[in-house]
Amino acid sequence: MTTRPTVLLVGGTGRTGGRVLRELLARDVHVRAVARSRARLPASSAGHPNLTVTEASLLTLREDELQQLVRGCDAVVSCLGHVLDFKGIFGPPRDLVTQATTRLCRAVEAVGGPTPVKFVLMSSVSVHRSRDLDARRGSLERAFLAVLRRLVPPAADNQRAADFLRTQIGPENPAVRWVVVRPDTLLDGDVTPYALHEALVDSLFEPGSTRMANVAHFMAELVTNPETWSAWASKLPVIVDAPPRS
Ligand SMILES: NC(=O)c1ccc[n+]([C@@H]2O[C@H](COP(=O)([O-])OP(=O)(O)OC[C@H]3O[C@@H](n4cnc5c(N)ncnc54)[C@H](OP(=O)(O)O)[C@@H]3O)[C@@H](O)[C@H]2O)c1
Repeated sequence: MTTRPTVLLVGGTGRTGGRVLRELLARDVHVRAVARSRARLPASSAGHPNLTVTEASLLTLREDELQQLVRGCDAVVSCLGHVLDFKGIFGPPRDLVTQATTRLCRAVEAVGGPTPVKFVLMSSVSVHRSRDLDARRGSLERAFLAVLRRLVPPAADNQRAADFLRTQIGPENPAVRWVVVRPDTLLDGDVTPYALHEALVDSLFEPGSTRMANVAHFMAELVTNPETWSAWASKLPVIVDAPPRS
């Protein structure tokens, strides 16, 4: 059974976020998008009757403005990411994803609707669950990741945002339920068969690939298909493209 919820989307001007927006609108979902510039949203979404756009920088919205945005939403989807240039990677805000995730979840908690709101976070396979839950990486890989998190702020930011959901929000929060989606190397292309795994499957040195269209499809499934949601709630699914059938 599918439902048509109201979804708050942040990061909808990005490569993956734009695909999520198109996927949600194609499913007749009502979308509230927050974007620094509405002109950067996919052209096909302009004027769509199910789309409401708030032109603002998410991190500078006041708490009451955020609460107004999440009020009445069934789900929040975040595809925010650091822009991949020197300023985006090393400049402020170094905690973009953590700050946005924290503020949005706290706003949802403050509003306190009748049922928990689903929070879907775009993350990465560089993010791990607690030691015992993910396959243990080799020592070289662990050393590489430690350096990456120390030197490249977005890597640490993605980990902290996932840790916030896992440890601060937790699995039984009455206001927020969450899924952290972990794609591997992002690729263009249309939706194809894809695989979902509870734990890491590929090494950082021999990465897998994930079409952004497949991430968008899975995120839209999470917020519209209750069975998909109950299969993955409170988990950090790794999503990779399925190998072509021979
Ligand atoms: N690249 C990969 O292979 C890969 C693989 C796995 C996971 N990931 C993760 O996936 C996420 C999304 O990747 P993507 O390539 O789809 O992202 P993207 O195209 O770079 O889009 C980033 C989004 O974040 C927004 N944003 C950036 N800085 C912001 C700020 N200071 N305030 C408000 N909004 C801001 C951008 O808005 P504007 O349009 O206004 O700039 C845009 O909507 C990233 O977190 C990345 O770590 C990437």
